Amino acid sequence: MDSTSRWRAERTADGSFTLVSPEHGEACHSLAGAWTQARERYARPCRLRERALAGERRLALLDVGTGLGLNLAAAFAELEGTDAALDVLSLELEPDVVRAALALPLGEGGLARVLTPVRSGLAAALATGGGEFALGAGRVRLVFGDARRTLAAEREPALFDAVFLDPFSPKVAPELWQSDFLALVAARMGSRSVLSTYSSAVRVRAALLAVGLSVGLGPRVGAKSSGTLAGRGFELPGFDPRTARRLARKAFPGPNPAPGAESAGPFS
Ligand SMILES: C[S@@+](CC[C@H](N)C(=O)[O-])C[C@H]1O[C@@H](n2cnc3c(N)ncnc32)[C@H](O)[C@@H]1O
Repeated sequence: MDSTSRWRAERTADGSFTLVSPEHGEACHSLAGAWTQARERYARPCRLRERALAGERRLALLDVGTGLGLNLAAAFAELEGTDAALDVLSLELEPDVVRAALALPLGEGGLARVLTPVRSGLAAALATGGGEFALGAGRVRLVFGDARRTLAAEREPALFDAVFLDPFSPKVAPELWQSDFLALVAARMGSRSVLSTYSSAVRVRAALLAVGLSVGLGPRVGAKSSGTLAGRGFELPGFDPRTARRLARKAFPGPNPAPGAESAGPFS
């Protein structure tokens, strides 16, 4: 069997497609809507458009788990009609998932228009085992390999304005939710950078707090629970005081909470 065909295509409720992993059977997106998730869970809450409209001309994004390129496409769609260029570092373990994504139907409505140039770029980068392609006024660099290694090996000292943390769940792929990797990511986040992820696990939120980020509630997407936002210098929707204390205790066990432990709530 062709290895790409092991990734099973599934149509989600908003008409866009996702892929299901042959390893553990987890889908790359919520079946309630892959494209909706990309826009509402990742592109919008990371405030790329807000920053572009405020006059920033160049923004940088770290995209963890390229997958079908939907989050990537949503980020570029978010900047349409602004003067900002977006530079993306997109990290993916499996060339096969990208290959399988290129064979999927484009989906409906505006998605096909936005996704077509992303797919062309991914196809070109895939053909050379990864690489860079232009997209709009910006560029995407697709790097294959385990993100723990590829991010650590990045020589460009760039700080990212936004991070899409979208690996498979901690249950089936714990490696990208662990403190070592999250610390690597946090070290690459600028002063107003926002990270978004679908996970609402206490363990994940506490780990983000422990690596020096403030954490807050992400948006609810469809019937899904709030994900998590993390970063520095932004006001984010906070947790209720009990949850904030619980997170701080988990992140900083011991009698004296570390400085910043109180910032599990809204950013100050
Ligand atoms: C939930 S899917 C991402 C969906 C994607 N963001 C999109 O917009 O279509 C998770 C992706 O993370 C990739 N992945 C899993 N482990 C990884 C690792 N250690 N390093 C980099 N990518 C990894 C998977 O192959 C998969 O494509």
